[in-house]
Amino acid sequence: MERTREAVTTVLRWGILGPGRIAPRIVRGVGSCPRGEVVAVGSRDAARAAAFAATHGIPRSHGSYDALLADAEVDVVYVALPNHLHAEWTIRALEAGKHVLCEKPLALTVAEVDAIATAADRTGRLAVEAFMYLHHPQIIRAVELARSGALGPLELVQGSFSFFLTYPGDPRIDPSMGGGSLWDVGCYPVSFARRVAGEDPDRVGAFARFDERGVDRTFIGQMHFPGGLLAEFDCGFAAPDRQRLEIVGQAATLVLDSPFLTAPDGPPPSLALRRGDETTQVDVAAVDQVWAEVEDLTAAILDGTPPRVDLPFSRGSIAALVELDRAARRDAGLPEG
Ligand SMILES: NC(=O)c1ccc[n+]([C@@H]2O[C@H](COP(=O)([O-])OP(=O)(O)OC[C@H]3O[C@@H](n4cnc5c(N)ncnc54)[C@H](OP(=O)(O)O)[C@@H]3O)[C@@H](O)[C@H]2O)c1
Repeated sequence: MERTREAVTTVLRWGILGPGRIAPRIVRGVGSCPRGEVVAVGSRDAARAAAFAATHGIPRSHGSYDALLADAEVDVVYVALPNHLHAEWTIRALEAGKHVLCEKPLALTVAEVDAIATAADRTGRLAVEAFMYLHHPQIIRAVELARSGALGPLELVQGSFSFFLTYPGDPRIDPSMGGGSLWDVGCYPVSFARRVAGEDPDRVGAFARFDERGVDRTFIGQMHFPGGLLAEFDCGFAAPDRQRLEIVGQAATLVLDSPFLTAPDGPPPSLALRRGDETTQVDVAAVDQVWAEVEDLTAAILDGTPPRVDLPFSRGSIAALVELDRAARRDAGLPEG
């Protein structure tokens, strides 16, 4: 079905699926957007939904995910569930006539992304992966500079993202819920390298330390792109807080010291250009990237602009993650997922 602009609605009404750790950020992001309001939240537990609604001033709460999807006064659903539920609830929301912002990773297989794309086409609704960092001006500028030739011919992209995961029973360390540091935080440097390359890797290599349940706690990966660019990254749940990106060209290097979680959820943005012995800071606006992500989807729905993170981009990210995961499992002698 061809997508049409929302003729009547000028303020999008958001519903949240899953009142967990990340959900308050979307309340903040939508709250800063003049064309959006959070009107409902759905949980498997009615009391949990009601408590979240009361805390965040949300008018309606629902005691099941189906009830939220049946709420006729919700236009956009934010899927903030554990990874293994992303594809299923994105498709169900699309089929209920809602647009969807789904947390990363959008899915755990390429077939799931294809099923989402089919549902989006069929229903004429948008489904977008919530890679909030890709909406930050520092990332947009870094990619622009790298792709403009300002760094000379590009050689290498490096990225790191790690933290100590200490919650027992966390879905992120559950193999049946799409657990593992690659899916949770490795997806950031992988998506960034693909953004810089402007294409998908044709070869990958990877090693990981897996726990006794086959969940990767520390992961290192490498990607080779058809145009010659090389990328490497590490990620993990067993090392101190680290986030960094470097784009290395023959003439200059760009360094981002807080690329993924920036203020107000992390340090301020920092984009430095190193040429020889000289380092200059590139001016970038310090905005809430969750707000920027909400604005982007709002414009896509109401004004018909293309979303910054589209489904073909997400499909490429998931394909790369699947191949990286397989490579590390093969190396460790584990069954490939
Ligand atoms: N973009 C980002 O910056 C960012 C940051 C953190 C997380 N994330 C992503 O956002 C998603 C949610 O992360 P989170 O940290 O908010 O997750 P979480 O708090 O562990 O779980 C979110 C909600 O999922 C629901 N849920 C449904 N089935 C569940 C199950 N079997 N076990 C546990 N919870 C279940 C729970 O809600 P009810 O039980 O109330 O229904 C829970 O509150 C993940 O995919 C993660 O990768 C993104």
